[in-house]
Amino acid sequence: MILETARLRLRPVTGSDVGALVGLDSDPVVMRYVSGGVPTSREVIEGWVLPRAEAERRAHNTGMWTAVDRDAGHFRGWFALRTPRHSHRPEVELSYRLTREVWGRGLATEGAHALLTLSFRELGAERVFASTMAANIASRRVMEKIGMRLSAIHLCDEDILFGSGSGEVEYELLHSHWETTTMAWFQGRPFAGQTHPQVTARARHAVGDLTA
Ligand SMILES: CC(C)(COP(=O)(O)OP(=O)(O)OC[C@H]1O[C@@H](n2cnc3c(N)ncnc32)[C@H](O)[C@@H]1OP(=O)(O)O)[C@@H](O)C(=O)NCCC(=O)NCCS
Repeated sequence: MILETARLRLRPVTGSDVGALVGLDSDPVVMRYVSGGVPTSREVIEGWVLPRAEAERRAHNTGMWTAVDRDAGHFRGWFALRTPRHSHRPEVELSYRLTREVWGRGLATEGAHALLTLSFRELGAERVFASTMAANIASRRVMEKIGMRLSAIHLCDEDILFGSGSGEVEYELLHSHWETTTMAWFQGRPFAGQTHPQVTARARHAVGDLTA
């Protein structure tokens, strides 16, 4: 399934993305809160990342989406939905990673919104969650901006990776909460039945278009 937002096209990852994925994970700043700056090898991307994404896509319509500019088609990173193996409820884990040159433009928020919409509207998820190192403020901010709430804090004893000494945080958004906030905006009745064009326009922009 291909998703489109105002600025991004998200398409299922393929073997043709290997070079771009290796390049992304070779930037130690990008990998700082993922692996302590250690790059991911081509072998791991070809032998584990891509097969896992393909298995997810086949089994659950989830997996990994390559993010490219809608206009120029430049690689910007990826967004992913993973189905936990031993979960007792319909839930998916959201994650994302973008090339450093596009940080700070709201693209992670835009793409994450599109996957939230897909999860709740098309995939039947009851809960979408995401986790990161507590020190990863940019990632936490994206989670907050898409409406997620802090749901768990995992403390780490040792500073195994850079920044992990302050632990990991998990954020979540429940379908019921998403419905009562986003969907109310969509209907143009955010405040006691009054139409509020500014808010409605913002909500439409944030959610983006879903294209099957
Ligand atoms: C996390 C990541 C995807 C964010 O991408 P992005 O496109 O820059 O995100 P957005 O522009 O949508 O939002 C980032 C927000 O974090 C804020 N932010 C970034 N660094 C910050 C810092 N050091 N302190 C405070 N706020 C910070 C930005 O100001 C922005 O918030 P605002 O819109 O309220 O100003 C990107 O930094 C990345 O790929 N990091 C490496 C991989 C990673 O850490 N992935 C997440 C692991 S789970």
